[in-house]
Amino acid sequence: MAQTILITGASSGLGAEMARQFAALGYDLALCARRTEKLDGLKAEIAASQPGARVEIRALDVTNDEQVFEVFHGFQADFGTIDRIVINAGLGKGAPLGTGRYDANRETAMTNFVAALCQAEAAMEIFRAQNAGHFVMVSSMSAVRGMPKTLTTYAATKAGVAHLAEGLRAELYGKPIKVTVLYPGYIASEMNEKIDKPTPLMVSTEKGVKAMVSAIEREVGSAAVPALPWAPLGVVMKHAPMPVFKRLI
Ligand SMILES: NC(=O)c1ccc[n+]([C@@H]2O[C@H](COP(=O)([O-])OP(=O)(O)OC[C@H]3O[C@@H](n4cnc5c(N)ncnc54)[C@H](OP(=O)(O)O)[C@@H]3O)[C@@H](O)[C@H]2O)c1
Repeated sequence: MAQTILITGASSGLGAEMARQFAALGYDLALCARRTEKLDGLKAEIAASQPGARVEIRALDVTNDEQVFEVFHGFQADFGTIDRIVINAGLGKGAPLGTGRYDANRETAMTNFVAALCQAEAAMEIFRAQNAGHFVMVSSMSAVRGMPKTLTTYAATKAGVAHLAEGLRAELYGKPIKVTVLYPGYIASEMNEKIDKPTPLMVSTEKGVKAMVSAIEREVGSAAVPALPWAPLGVVMKHAPMPVFKRLI
């Protein structure tokens, strides 16, 4: 029987492309997001390219705690077992602190951190009951160090979710439940299509997600993706003296 992967934020960008690439590897999929019309389109696309794959979709706003538990447990009831859960839903909004946009920063914090905590609670209920599963958290390279301006809150949320998952990894080390934390660099998606400063470090969605899927399939503990340039660049970002760091970002 095919293994099942639950992906949140599957309606666009990295989540949708992970769904395509995992379906091509033979997995069944439990996909959720708010824009169900996009999920319907993705389901039809996967049905055409991978007729054997089972794809179930559910509407989910991850900031609605009750709905997160309902949807995760609903998928478990649909499939019997959920083998892997990818906490991917996220928001790239944000503004420099103290500039009147607490609403945007709060929305980012609630979606990227508090809602990820809720998804982690629901995922771990399922995995603890199964005594098996693979927990995957999508953090960001911005988690390695505090970031200025529009990225300040976003980077703080991504550091928060990385620590949440790393804490679980320490707890579960050597046990049947596995944990992977991904730190993506710039990967083309809806989140960065309106970026002010185009960066030469941006890779296509397909290429970036291929690196993510490869790290997930190997069940690595943590990975910067794509590894080049992000693994060495991450070390520089973390340790560079402030004048150097300011020139990098
Ligand atoms: N692209 C990059 O360069 C990059 C780098 C580092 C980390 N990341 C992380 O990768 C993840 C995916 O982002 P992306 O780049 O693929 O951006 P994206 O194309 O904007 O996708 C974001 C996804 O999150 C979902 N989402 C947002 N708010 C939600 C909510 N309240 N409830 C449910 N789903 C919600 C969206 O679905 P609906 O709007 O349909 O609900 C969408 O499917 C995010 O966690 C992001 O922080 C991305």
